[in-house]
Parts: sequence; structure tokens; C-alpha cells
Amino acid sequence: MKAVRLIVIALICLAFGFSSIEATPSPQITFNKDVAPIFYNNCVVCHRAGEIAPMSLLSYKDARPWARSIKEKVVSRDMPPWHADPAHGKYSNDRSLSEKDIKTIVAWVDQGAVEGSARDLPRAPQFPGGWQIGKPDLVLEMPQEFTVPAEGVVSYQYFAIPTGFREDRWVQAVEIRPGNRAVVHHVIAFVVGPDGLRRRGLLNNEGGVEGLAGTAPGEMPTAYPDGIGKLVKAGSYIVLQMHYTPVGSPQKDRTSIGLIFSRRPVRKAIMGGAAINRFFAIPPGAENHQVRSAYTFREDAHILHLMPHMHLRGKDFEFRLVYPDGRERIILSVPRYDFNWQTRYELATPIAAPAGSRVECTAHFDNSSKNRWNPDPAKTVRWGQQTWEEMMIGFVGFTLDRQNLLESTATANRRD
Ligand code: HEC
Repeated sequence: MKAVRLIVIALICLAFGFSSIEATPSPQITFNKDVAPIFYNNCVVCHRAGEIAPMSLLSYKDARPWARSIKEKVVSRDMPPWHADPAHGKYSNDRSLSEKDIKTIVAWVDQGAVEGSARDLPRAPQFPGGWQIGKPDLVLEMPQEFTVPAEGVVSYQYFAIPTGFREDRWVQAVEIRPGNRAVVHHVIAFVVGPDGLRRRGLLNNEGGVEGLAGTAPGEMPTAYPDGIGKLVKAGSYIVLQMHYTPVGSPQKDRTSIGLIFSRRPVRKAIMGGAAINRFFAIPPGAENHQVRSAYTFREDAHILHLMPHMHLRGKDFEFRLVYPDGRERIILSVPRYDFNWQTRYELATPIAAPAGSRVECTAHFDNSSKNRWNPDPAKTVRWGQQTWEEMMIGFVGFTLDRQNLLESTATANRRD
């Protein structure tokens, strides 16, 4: 028996030996020819100076020292960060690499991570003034600098910036640029109507205030497809909700927000809904505490994007669309939620949600000591704004089927 096995092994070795001799030698994989295009398309939005990633991957010189770590992170699919289960939907902003790209990177590293010929290097992508959305039409800045103390908990700070708009404007893309990434934990931008600031309670995201954009660690800027825009009325203010986290020394921040106005006529306004549950209590030590929420569509609509939001104890999050006749389908599943990556999942094809259908969200929280992010497994955890408290929100971005702003302006003009 042993002998047979040995022969078999020998034969296998021979077969492999021969095949490697016979195969054409695999071509040299180089940074300039093969790897730079992958990094340009998939990594440098974050991996360049001034952005959230710890190192730049724009040039060979920048990337070479990280070769081994790069191989490890792309093989494990930790990088690029992407957390949707591919079984349940296609997203236009899917950052994950193809198998082919992963193989190319692995081969490059295994072959010694060489640079290659300068002639092969494609032109690096441009980020004018650091903006990912392109050069903004308008940049609004916090009216004054804010000093973040060295220690302690800083309650949310609100800064109201007048837009100065004399007429209603449609916005197609929005990007928030933190002034000092070391201390800016997250920013949410709201649009408040001209009289909004005078009304009480408007600055705590309740009633009358519309979300405009958010930036949390890992979140990419908002950009809508042509024909879809966000309405910002004349005289509106943009209010920035700033969540600062002290880092041991006093720091200054002045965050700005860039807007690109819609260049094409806008047919539909982007609307926002949220499946929220504020009434949960996660027991101490609970490993898999379930919380559910729902959002019902009152009119026929199409869903454009989805975004789960939880804090440090968030474990997984699922969005199901339940049709009026009871049929249902999963439209987004994030099996391993990671608080560090607040991703808005843009559906590759908008999904029809007829009137009466519901988006049902199911989340699980891990309040045990197994969760390495857990600030305190001994606490009962309830809804709250600080990161050691929790949230459970399934944001839904959609348009209304009946809405056609082009037609209504045409009709209005005819009536004139
Ligand atoms: C959306 C932003 C983003 C994208 C896209 C992205 N990264 Fe990262 N990357 C980060 C951040 C932030 C970190 C540091 C925190 C972490 O490890 O999660 C990081 C860490 C890394 C590390 C580990 C560095 C270390 O300290 O050991 C490697 C390697 C890496 N990225 C490679 C890549 C490669 C290769 C790509 C593209 C194929 C890529 N990343 C795409 C944001 C990004």
C-alpha cells in the first residue's frame, strides 16, 4: 500500500514538474503595467496624502514597502473595505476586487514587487484640491475654527452656515472635508430652511430638518445620477453636526463642505426615509441581541441606496423588502458589520417598492466581551448619540415614481 502511495506521489510530482517546464514562463508582473491601474481604480481614493488610510499607494515608492501587507489584506479581502454579502444584490459603488485583480497583486508581490518600465505607467487620477467629487461649484466652511480640548467627551457641536442662495438650487454631489481628521469622528450635514433655525428643536435631527450628507470614517461622498438631485431651497442654511473625539492634545478644526450643482435638468428629487428603532435595551453580555425596525412606502417608489447605522456593538444588519402581497426579498445583507466603515450601498439598479411595501430591517448587537470594540460589556445599552450608546437605523434613499419635475415645470409654463 505504502509503495503504491509513494508511486502516486511521485507521479503527481512528475506531472507538476513537467507542466511547469512545458508552460510558457509566466510574464513578469510589474507595478507600472499591472498593479498601478488596480490601485488607481480601487485604492487611492483613500490611500493618498491627506485621506483616511495610513499610507499612500499612488507611486511605486509609496507602495513598495507595503507589498507583503498589501498581499495579505487583499487575499483576506479586508482591503478594499466592503461588507455587503454578494449573494443579495449588486451595488454600483462595490469596492471589492475581482479574483483576477487579486491574483495579479499576489503574483506581483510573489515575483518580488518590481517597478517595471516607466513607459507602462498610466496617468494617475486627479483629485482637484483633494476633492473626490471634482472641483466643487461652492465650498462652504464652518464660520469659525473650533478648538477640541485635549481630553474628555465633547458634546455634539453644531455650526450653521448660510448658503446665501437667492433661488432654489439642485445639488447633485456633496462632499464633506474634515479640517482635522485626527479629531473629526463624524460629520452630518443637514439642510435647514430659512426660518428653520428660529424654531426650537430643529438642530437635533427631529422634524423639519433634512439630511444632506454625512461623513463618518470610511464613508464616500454623495453623488446622485443625472436627473436626480437634492433640493436646497433659497435662503437655506447648512448645519454641520460635528462629533469630535479628543486625542490627548488640543486640536483645531475647521471643516468644509463642497457642493456640485446639477448640470442636467432634474426629473426627480432624492428622498430619504429611515427604519428606526429607538426602544431597545441590550442586556449586559448579550452576544446576539436582535433589534428590528421598518419603513413603509406610502407611494410607488424606487429605492436607490441603503445604509445601515449602528455603533460599536453592531454585529450584522439586513434589509428585506416585503411587498404588499407578502412576498419578500433581501436587498442588502451586511453579515459582519464594522462600525469603522459606514458605507452607503448604492444599488446598481434601483429597486421598485410599490405603495404599501415595507423595508424591514433586522440587526444584531454583540454586547459581550467577545466583541473587541465593546466599551463596556457590563452595561445595559440603549439608544443614544455617543459611540458607547447605540443606534439602529436603516437609511433608505428613494425617488417617487409619479414625480417628474420636468413635466410639472412644462405644465406650469403652459399655464402662464
Ligand atoms: C475606502 C477607503 C479605502 C480603500 C478603498 C482602500 N483602503 Fe486600505 N486602508 C484604509 C484604511 C482607513 C486603513 C487603515 C485602517 C484599517 O486597516 O482598516 C487601510 C489599511 C490598509 C492596509 C494595512 C496598512 C497597515 O497599517 O498595515 C493595507 C495593506 C491596505 N489598506 C491596502 C489597500 C489596497 C491594496 C487597497 C486597494 C486594492 C485598499 N487598501 C483600498 C482605507 C482604504
